[in-house]
Amino acid sequence: MSHHKPDPNKNVNLTIDGIPVTVPEGTGIVEAAKKANVKIPVLCDHPDLCKRALCRICVVECDGRGKLVAACANPVYEGASIVTNSHRLIEIRKTILELILVNHPQDCLYCVRNKNCELQSLAESLGIHDIHFHQTAEHAPPSIECETLVRDMNKCVKCARCVEECQEVQNIRAINTSHRSHELGITTPYKQPLDESACVFCGQCVSVCPVGAIYEYDQRAQIWESLYNRERLTIAQVSPAFVAMLNKEYSNIDEHMEGFGHKHLSAPITAGKLIAAIKRLGFDMVFDEDIAIKAHVSEQIIELEKRTARSDHSKKQKLPAITGCSEGVNRFIHNFYPELVDHILPSKSPSKLFADEIKKSYAAEEGVDLEQITTVSFVPCIAQKYRMSKRAASEYKNDYTLSAKELMRMIIFAGIDIDSLEEEIFNTYNVELPSTDSAEKPQIVHGLAQAHKVMESVRKGECDAKWVEIHSCASDCC
Ligand code: SF4
Ligand code: SF4
Ligand code: FES
Repeated sequence: MSHHKPDPNKNVNLTIDGIPVTVPEGTGIVEAAKKANVKIPVLCDHPDLCKRALCRICVVECDGRGKLVAACANPVYEGASIVTNSHRLIEIRKTILELILVNHPQDCLYCVRNKNCELQSLAESLGIHDIHFHQTAEHAPPSIECETLVRDMNKCVKCARCVEECQEVQNIRAINTSHRSHELGITTPYKQPLDESACVFCGQCVSVCPVGAIYEYDQRAQIWESLYNRERLTIAQVSPAFVAMLNKEYSNIDEHMEGFGHKHLSAPITAGKLIAAIKRLGFDMVFDEDIAIKAHVSEQIIELEKRTARSDHSKKQKLPAITGCSEGVNRFIHNFYPELVDHILPSKSPSKLFADEIKKSYAAEEGVDLEQITTVSFVPCIAQKYRMSKRAASEYKNDYTLSAKELMRMIIFAGIDIDSLEEEIFNTYNVELPSTDSAEKPQIVHGLAQAHKVMESVRKGECDAKWVEIHSCASDCC
């Protein structure tokens, strides 16, 4: 294999399972195979993360090298003849998978990732019906971390995606690998609970885990209980970014669950269909949280203006003011920049602001006891759950959050066919929220690796912004 720097402007010609393909130099074998409509199975590989090539499920035969190579971690080269599907390769992949499955809990039917699991999908596509090895691992109970996420290491396939995400993408380093080879483990420093580690509960490890080894703390049971109780008023408040996350979730399932009779949607899910689906689940009212976000921003601006005015004659300027998309951002600053905690601008989250107002308003208007109202916030990421877990139980009584993954499970459970739903519109309300007509805007920072850089500049007094808003994930989710 050549080690020179690939030139993406230069093409290379090769064959994959006999199909001629031309791709830019440096293209990985998995991507080149896609161009030939050949799907090479992967498990540890993730398109947004560095290649560690730990599982070897993607093994292919590559002539001229005299050995098997991991397709996810190797580029194509001029004249290569790659075989992805020989009897030898299938047997190797089956053996690798059986070695993973032998120690994997056999509870797929009631696992949260049932029918949305990359391991299950691989076992199905490789036709695994029997396991020729004996279980050696002992299973420990899953750990619930701050009622935000659950880690069930019995199900971990040691792909290290979560480690890559936490260390390299987020630069938090709350989880890491231990030991090597067959003893490789995924752990926290000194095996601490995440609450005692540097973890900021951004939830990004959950989004890359291919199996049910890290998942969101599930509150569906409490929500179903409220929905089934016709004495209760169950109110949904939907974040504007939620519909995009639901579509993303659906396309993940589309990609991995072809063999499970999964029905492809004829068109992306619209806000109207989302509202219809939520109502079909039994919610009494469905509101748009957008107005609460604007009100939340207005509250922050009022606070910021007070702080700016004060800063002229105060030694403690506390600028730039720092705000975040979730409680996790506060924890990030407390963990990594404790001397800058005073920069955090105090405010209620949009979800909480809205839940409080809507409860008060409907309790008064409909003559409903406050205790009989449940509000459920449909949020794009699980970092919102962390806020609730850290506040007084009474403050968040009857308030829940639902991620797109959890809603997807509820929709499947209720047998709702999203495609066939008629679009519906949000309920409207007469809730008094603070005025929204200020033009002040924060500097938005996406992802915690980037946030580290900005916070370093604040620490050195080199940040010119008056207001910085940190979003814990690198994608533009909210
Ligand atoms: S929640 Fe975020 S900070 Fe915590 S372990 Fe996962 S990726 Fe790391
Ligand atoms: S917890 Fe999930 S993402 Fe992390 S190594 Fe295990 S299977 Fe991979
Ligand atoms: S997918 Fe290539 S080594 Fe795991």
